[in-house]
Amino acid sequence: MKTPYSAIADTLDHASGVVVVTGAGVSAESAIPTFRDTMTGLWAKFDPQTLATPEAFAADPETVTRWYDHRRLGCLAAEPNAGHTALAEIERRVTARGGSFTLLTQNVDGLHRRAGSVHVVELHGSVARWRCTATGREFEPGPDAFKTFPPPSPFEEGAVLRPCVVWFGEALPDVALDAAERALETCDLFLSIGTSSVVWPAAGFMHAASARGAPTVEINPEPTGISDDVTWSVRAKSGEALPAIVHLMACH
Ligand code: APR
Repeated sequence: MKTPYSAIADTLDHASGVVVVTGAGVSAESAIPTFRDTMTGLWAKFDPQTLATPEAFAADPETVTRWYDHRRLGCLAAEPNAGHTALAEIERRVTARGGSFTLLTQNVDGLHRRAGSVHVVELHGSVARWRCTATGREFEPGPDAFKTFPPPSPFEEGAVLRPCVVWFGEALPDVALDAAERALETCDLFLSIGTSSVVWPAAGFMHAASARGAPTVEINPEPTGISDDVTWSVRAKSGEALPAIVHLMACH
């Protein structure tokens, strides 16, 4: 009998439409704290879930932008881990033999692209990009911290910048949702990796794929609300499980 790892590797070798959704757990081994982790140091007294809202930004733009700049610099300083690299390698192998591969990520840290993943859909935006609240124009600030908070917009006198992330209560970008929907329409293998699967719409992607008859995989050291519904539930860290799966793939 095949182990789940070799069954998943074998399915990856033959699937024509692979869709992966990732969450904060994939970046845990890069030492990026997840949202639901306790904050440390200067930020210990804040609850991230109350900072990541349009209401918090309206009430206290200084604190909210300081926190996001702190997160931005933390993400820039972090390095992709073995899980990110393995996902980039899986994409390379699937697309090299003519398959399609879509990586839907809830992470805003940019580590998938830095690891070499190409077809990445950032469902919740990116902390690396900021936009002018007056004009909507975006840009990517350099490696130094902003000097004043909220940062002044370089595009319009008197306007400020906010991070290009989706806050609680805000809609996901249409382009991201459309890309996710298109990928799911042709999906014949679905993987959910490092996400607690509680936040819509990512939580519903597994069920959409499963309804199409696609086999489904979860990689997470802890059980979640979808663990009992997937074809293969792998209780392991993504930085360990994904390289082991790549190692078992036949196609190079
Ligand atoms: N490998 C795989 N999974 C891991 C690892 C690891 N090394 N370490 C932790 N996990 C799992 C945890 O068990 C948990 O189920 O990652 C999951 C992280 O869950 P959350 O912190 O809830 O992150 P996520 O699912 O990405 O949250 C979704 O909610 O907070 C908002 O907008 C924010 O994008 C975020 C969204």
